[in-house]
Amino acid sequence: MAETWANVQVSGADGVEPGQLSGSDLYLDLSGEGSLRSRLMGALREAIRSGRLAPGTRLPPHRGLAHDLGIARNTVANAYAELVAEGWLQARQGSGTRVARRAVPLRVDRARPSRHPRHRRVPHSLMPSSPDAAAFPRSAWLTSTRRAVAAAPNDAFGVGDPRGRVELREALSEYLARARGVRTEPDRIVICSGFAHGLELLGGVLRGPVAVESYGLDFHRGLLEAAGLRTVPLTVDSHGARIDELPRTGAKAVLLTPAHQFPTGGPLHPERRAAVVDWARSHGGLLVEDDYDGEFRYDRQPVGAVQGLDPDRVVYVGSASKSLSPALRLGWMVLPPWLVDEIVTAKGPREIWSSAVDQLTLADFIACGAYDRHLRRMRQHYRRRRDQLVSTLAERAPHIRVSGIAAGLHAVLELPADTEEAAVRAAGRQGLALDGLRPYRHPDSAMPRREGLVIGYGTPPDHAFASALAALCLALPDPPDDSRRPPPPPPAGRRRTGEGD
Ligand SMILES: Cc1ncc(COP(=O)(O)O)c(C=O)c1O
Repeated sequence: MAETWANVQVSGADGVEPGQLSGSDLYLDLSGEGSLRSRLMGALREAIRSGRLAPGTRLPPHRGLAHDLGIARNTVANAYAELVAEGWLQARQGSGTRVARRAVPLRVDRARPSRHPRHRRVPHSLMPSSPDAAAFPRSAWLTSTRRAVAAAPNDAFGVGDPRGRVELREALSEYLARARGVRTEPDRIVICSGFAHGLELLGGVLRGPVAVESYGLDFHRGLLEAAGLRTVPLTVDSHGARIDELPRTGAKAVLLTPAHQFPTGGPLHPERRAAVVDWARSHGGLLVEDDYDGEFRYDRQPVGAVQGLDPDRVVYVGSASKSLSPALRLGWMVLPPWLVDEIVTAKGPREIWSSAVDQLTLADFIACGAYDRHLRRMRQHYRRRRDQLVSTLAERAPHIRVSGIAAGLHAVLELPADTEEAAVRAAGRQGLALDGLRPYRHPDSAMPRREGLVIGYGTPPDHAFASALAALCLALPDPPDDSRRPPPPPPAGRRRTGEGD
């Protein structure tokens, strides 16, 4: 059925005579799957839960609502009756059907799945998109906000400079040099609303095709393509992107994740780091370095940014999304001098993207050492998570290999051919959201297809991590020869869900 939006008039709650129309409109969206009755029930529950239908409000009579929605009267009568039984509505002889006066029950509406599968509520998530949101350093951040707002000059609360607050650019310039080996001054830094915004700005000033890694975020490729730039895939192997393929692409720019390839998980080999800089110098090219999780390395000191090799040929883009929170929407671009004006012009005449208060807070947070302390703590936290993932797999699924370096907030589990899709589906049945490698593959890539699961081990809160791992183990394919498998210790009440269950 096509989307059905109905505009129905409902009568008022307390204080309004029964039968008197309040004149307020109620929009009911009956689109989606399932029977008309269940969709109507879902739409009414949603209207009650969101407060659009207040307790005590009288609903239209069956016939009137059926007429407005173009559906059978019985469908409305049955939906009302079920919602009365569930406690959402109350029916009284002579006064029609009303929204129940007692507290509205809060429960998941299973009749209306989200239209965006990635936003569906599931008990567990190992999606690689988020840090551990429960670990956000609330009180240290508040301390910095208080201090930053108290110390800020009046102009901080006026219209902002599109380059971003100077306090933050100064703090970043010192921090990036010290921690990431970036060569810059504050004047070459432009604050943006996360990496995605930085890429969007670059999309507006780059020319020609842009080379990208065969595996990467489709969302980022989409931003470049939306700017009219074709993206050309480079093979990704165990040494990172194949830089030797760059000349044949005709690209003048390349987007890479050198510290920790996303999502396959390897670093760019030192020879290839040098090679990409050589290519940029000899072809008038530009490297866009996405340093989204460069601070998180567990087996050694983090490798410095490629930008340090040639600040005139590399745009370094960093973000607070993994280190602090994607909700801050704060990122930073370190630009070659010849690109600064163009990017500032692309950003617009005034700051309309990033809050000055958040910028000042981050500046204070870095300057007072809280950012370093937070990163140290989170490094230990994510390292423990990764160790737990590796040891759980070693115990329960020793045939599954964890690939990539000990870094970042995600790992890839290598899977045998033709098992990825089934594993993602089996995870769904365990109430576990995760991604396979398939959605990250560039559609034009000619490299051999890899199968695997991208496990965001940073995502769950501590209390849910072990059960997320247990659900993961239940979703993994069996070893090729079942007899070699050690006896699995499934959690109580759960059994392994194989394909075809
Ligand atoms: C590959 C990659 N690049 C960059 C980012 C940061 O994106 P943003 O700063 O737009 O949140 C992420 C996610 O955090 C990512 O996975």
